[in-house]
Amino acid sequence: MTGTRARTPIPNPEDLIPIVGGQTLVLKLGGSVGREDTLLDDLALLQHGGARVVLVHGGGPLITAWLGRIGKETHFVRGLRYTDEDTLDVVRMVLSGLVNGEVVARIGASGGRAVGLSGSDDGMLQAVARDSELGLVGEVTSVHLAPVECVLDAGYIAVIAPVAVTEEGSFVNVNADTVAGELAAALGADRLVFFTDVDGIADGAGEPQRRLSTRQAQRLIADGIITGGMIPKVDAASHALSRGGEVRILDGRRPHALVDVLLRPTTIGTVLARD
Ligand SMILES: Nc1ncnc2c1ncn2[C@@H]1O[C@H](COP(=O)(O)OP(=O)(O)O)[C@@H](O)[C@H]1O
Ligand SMILES: [Mg+2]
Repeated sequence: MTGTRARTPIPNPEDLIPIVGGQTLVLKLGGSVGREDTLLDDLALLQHGGARVVLVHGGGPLITAWLGRIGKETHFVRGLRYTDEDTLDVVRMVLSGLVNGEVVARIGASGGRAVGLSGSDDGMLQAVARDSELGLVGEVTSVHLAPVECVLDAGYIAVIAPVAVTEEGSFVNVNADTVAGELAAALGADRLVFFTDVDGIADGAGEPQRRLSTRQAQRLIADGIITGGMIPKVDAASHALSRGGEVRILDGRRPHALVDVLLRPTTIGTVLARD
């Protein structure tokens, strides 16, 4: 592109204080976001603007790539990755090892302060694997906020790898969208934002929708218009909205998406609203 679109002016952190100061924000970073774009660099602004920031990251494409390296096929059931023992090991290595550390280091390099946590820390995310069609994929049964609150109270951004533990202490895979929704609900977050690789939810004609009620979104799922990885986002949004707050889904790869979502929120993505 040749500069036809106006550049996003980057605000000073003080300009963000009236917008996000004291707010709790849960941000979900999709598997295609965070490496080649500005999202992680802009997080320091939010932190200096006085927000309490929880960042939940996925890692889907990297998990698939590493499974490929060990010659393992992967498949999805209703947007969730079928997980056997080997897959679970790779999921944990990629999420808690590679991605979590990289995200924390990038935030640090851009002037922010972040601490990485895994859902297994102090039993933060408890889950059970109930659905044999999905294997070792957990359904979250309880959220214990002490570790994340401890990190937020100390002034850090909490960067969370979405793995969970059972009561017996074994690991299960949990979709990152689900984890973001659970944390937003448990924290009573002011905003939950999904940064993904599309500019929100499209309708049957492929038109991005600026606003949808959770009921309308569930209808689009029933009609097969919302599919795959968008389904757990809608479910997580419905769960988070039961506690209030604002939920938005947008393309995190566009330059300064994080700044736009705060300063020019009407122009991007889909807002999900309570019925
Ligand atoms: N109705 C829809 N509108 C927009 N995207 C949709 C829709 N239905 C399914 N999707 C898919 O959901 C994907 C985002 O989910 P996913 O691939 O899991 O990304 P992430 O890593 O951000 O979770 C989009 O790339 C798109 O292919
Ligand atoms: Mg996904």
